[in-house]
Amino acid sequence: MDNRPIGVFDSGVGGLTAVRELRKILPGEDIVYFGDTGRVPYGSRSKQTIVKFAVQNMRYLLTHDVKVILAACGTVCTNVTEKDIASAGIDAPYHGIVMPATRAACAQSQGGRIGVMATMAAIRSGAYGKALRTIQPSAQLIGNAAPLLVPIVENGMTEPGNPITRQALEYYLAPFIREEVDTLILGCTHYPILYDMINEALDYKVSLVDAGAAAAHELKVMLWENDLLAARESGCARYIVTDTVDNFVAVARNFLFEDIESSTQYVDIDDL
Ligand code: DGL
Repeated sequence: MDNRPIGVFDSGVGGLTAVRELRKILPGEDIVYFGDTGRVPYGSRSKQTIVKFAVQNMRYLLTHDVKVILAACGTVCTNVTEKDIASAGIDAPYHGIVMPATRAACAQSQGGRIGVMATMAAIRSGAYGKALRTIQPSAQLIGNAAPLLVPIVENGMTEPGNPITRQALEYYLAPFIREEVDTLILGCTHYPILYDMINEALDYKVSLVDAGAAAAHELKVMLWENDLLAARESGCARYIVTDTVDNFVAVARNFLFEDIESSTQYVDIDDL
């Protein structure tokens, strides 16, 4: 039993996809969420910068005495290795989204034609291909980067039927339709915020994988197996962001159907 909080981080609002699932399946856990909204997007940056930001974020979460860190960011998970984390002196249980999402995709796929839509840096890393070769080498992976979807989500253009979002989705999903994928990994945690619109654009014919939610489920198993679950009925979540609280709270309201203003605070990037 361990009543310390779970630490979750992302470049912005995307990691809320993992938080939403964590709160559903682990209601007794406290969560500290760190959204680096002052430096989003990460997906267009170099590996070196992504490692630097991720290490800062993890060190910051550790000041909140978290028992485990979930990197709910595909860009971080595909670019930051266990070795990078160890050489930065971070010694905490660390979980990512790549293996859980790939395992979920393999379980869901009927025909072994799996797509992954993620950020530029995530696709460039080849990490999803590597994960798939370990889990199901016979499956085919089709990757496509969809960088504009992150600013679209961060700017709250998430309401059903938004014409700009719809057009961007048509553009980014076309290769997956052409390649007839049967399963699509939403490999950037921002994308499941557009889940319904993506489903509609694919004519409900493709099985979707929410990478943040898949990671939440595997994290629950890990906590249980290691006797790290909190011993309480109901936990609470706090949110920390590195830019204006208003924008984050507004996007979160539409996605979590909850007003999190009173539990959200700003921290200056220079104080990390
Ligand atoms: N949610 C992040 C991810 O999963 C967003 C990346 C970005 O900041 O560009 O990749």
